Amino acid sequence: MHNNRISKLISILNKNYQEAWDTCCDHGKIGIEIFRKNRAKNIYFIDIVPSIIEKLRATLDYHFPNSTNKLNSQVLDASKIKVLNDGNIKLICICGVGGKETIEILKGIIENNDLSNVDFLLSPHYNLFEVRTYLIEEGFTSIDEQLIKDGKWFYEVLYVSKNGSNKICNVGSNLHSKSSEDYFKKVLNHYLLKSRYDDNYQHIYQAYLSKIFGQS
Ligand SMILES: C[S@@+](CC[C@H](N)C(=O)[O-])C[C@H]1O[C@@H](n2cnc3c(N)ncnc32)[C@H](O)[C@@H]1O
Repeated sequence: MHNNRISKLISILNKNYQEAWDTCCDHGKIGIEIFRKNRAKNIYFIDIVPSIIEKLRATLDYHFPNSTNKLNSQVLDASKIKVLNDGNIKLICICGVGGKETIEILKGIIENNDLSNVDFLLSPHYNLFEVRTYLIEEGFTSIDEQLIKDGKWFYEVLYVSKNGSNKICNVGSNLHSKSSEDYFKKVLNHYLLKSRYDDNYQHIYQAYLSKIFGQS
């Protein structure tokens, strides 16, 4: 399930890493795909649920018996990870959790780490506008971004770091096309409904409206 999404997710990466952190890893398929494609030499699988990590360890031992020293797993709140600043460029993945959870995890990581050599692969469910706004406020820049489709589901992917020069746009930069129309109509509708009950969503709705339909 979702293998198509995961291989598309990984295809956005434009370099190889010494280490990659698959946080909120669950089944671990993102880290496994990164390892299989030789995109990183060492993988750190992190999940907050002990039984998930226990199951994943058994899977990794079974499928990669000769690589156990390269495939590390730990029960931990992803916001608490500590990434060594040894000069090697690292990748941190936070995929498949809500936008608000993504922001909370990012807050912890930003507080605890020097991010000068770190790229992030983010694919939050929902609240992409809020995630992008947070990234802009924190001085992140875009390496690339994509809207991927797996079956009938769409997923936005943000590949960001603190080192680039491409600005992040809070409604996305190059994602709006004929093929993404259905997805952005749903996003627009979501913020329209929210803005009916809460004025704070009005500007988000307007931002999408003007990006998608050129209206304000
Ligand atoms: C839906 S799965 C996502 C799996 C995978 N990343 C993907 O995109 O397919 C969400 C996982 O995030 C984990 N999770 C949620 N909040 C977390 C946190 N703060 N720290 C670590 N793991 C967390 C859950 O236990 C669950 O296994």
